[in-house]
Amino acid sequence: MLNDMTDTRAVFERRESNARSYCRNMPTLFTSASGSELSDAEGNAWIDFLAGCSSLNYGHNDPDMKTALIEHITSDGIAMGLDLHTGAKRDFLNAFETHILSPRQMDHRVMFTGPTGANAVEAAMKIARKSTGRTNIIAFTNGFHGVTMGALAATGNGYHRGGAGTETQGVTRMPFDAYADGLDSAALLDQMLSDASGGIDAPAAIMFETVQGEGGLNAASPQWVRKVAGIAKKHGALLIIDDIQAGCGRCGTFFSFEDMGVTPDIVTMAKSLSGFGLPMAVLLVRPEHDVFGPAEHNGTFRGNAHAFVTARVAIEKFWADDRFQKELAEKAKLIHSALSELAAIVPQGVLKGRGLMQGVDVGSGELATEICRRAFQSGLIIETSGNEDQVVKVLAPLTTPVEILQKGFAILHDAARDAVSEPIMIAAE
Ligand SMILES: Cc1ncc(COP(=O)(O)O)c(C=O)c1O
Repeated sequence: MLNDMTDTRAVFERRESNARSYCRNMPTLFTSASGSELSDAEGNAWIDFLAGCSSLNYGHNDPDMKTALIEHITSDGIAMGLDLHTGAKRDFLNAFETHILSPRQMDHRVMFTGPTGANAVEAAMKIARKSTGRTNIIAFTNGFHGVTMGALAATGNGYHRGGAGTETQGVTRMPFDAYADGLDSAALLDQMLSDASGGIDAPAAIMFETVQGEGGLNAASPQWVRKVAGIAKKHGALLIIDDIQAGCGRCGTFFSFEDMGVTPDIVTMAKSLSGFGLPMAVLLVRPEHDVFGPAEHNGTFRGNAHAFVTARVAIEKFWADDRFQKELAEKAKLIHSALSELAAIVPQGVLKGRGLMQGVDVGSGELATEICRRAFQSGLIIETSGNEDQVVKVLAPLTTPVEILQKGFAILHDAARDAVSEPIMIAAE
């Protein structure tokens, strides 16, 4: 399917840093995208089961967001406004309050951070420390929270932490839910925090993802989440849920935790918040912990004016009533059954994740990578996750029509069958 694009892509090899990553597995020149599909310069098309790593939950170039953004730009709407009051920001906040926060009885304040997820995590860790006067943050095995120094300390992955070039600080790592057979990791956490000789400094916060996106789609059980929330409260720590990847509908509800009976003190959000793939990140923080002084967590790009426009449309279009959420419940079932089929194709397939954030642990990183490589050759963009890249992970846009989901899964199943039946070719290639 792929043509030789070497010439048109030569500049990437020549000039782009070695730090580039996704593009290495997808050797073509993408030029356009719409809904759940991308096309390259040669007119080849791909179904997108990656969705900008969950930054495009509503698909590429949603027509309503696009129209609103074009109108904003052509009417000379503010493009860059630091953190000044602007109409676009007001309209976003009103929509977010009306359709997201108030219906969920969340009195949280919205703090606009620098536009990356990592910056929101930095802000979360800092504000928890300032509010409690403590320094230690509890994070968990296989957690991924970004790669700036503070967030990196909370990230489990040794390869990423190795990139720091120095030791990371201020975090105690504990086993996530179901990390080891038979281990009640919440009980262990409570026991260690309650033991004056447990060796863990009183934490400012306990932070985790309810489904570990990069860490292999490990889904915490609601019981574990509730227990840990109780432990945080008992020990005077704030509960931070990092909903950067699992939020914005990815788990079937706007927040990944909203059916679990917990209300975090702090929630981090980024990725699909803008709805359109534009950079935008926020911290939701309970008023009593909203303790930064003006500009204390400063940043030039705190509030992307164009993202406010598209984020408002995303919220009004998809979250003003429960229709979209009902649609997601149906799609989650479809994904579950298609992935059960995938799990049966590979020798040791194990289903992972929940909602529209599911995948299959295929037992080895080599096999998972080979399945994704073959899928790409047949017109499907999909990636791996997990401590050894052993999980084939589906992150299709939530808006993907059922027929396209089915088409994508047919490609994925074929890719898995081929990868399993031709192991020698894998080694040879
Ligand atoms: C749960 C979670 N937190 C934080 C981040 C970091 O976000 P960013 O890459 O925008 O810095 C990611 C990115 O994948 C993530 O999945």
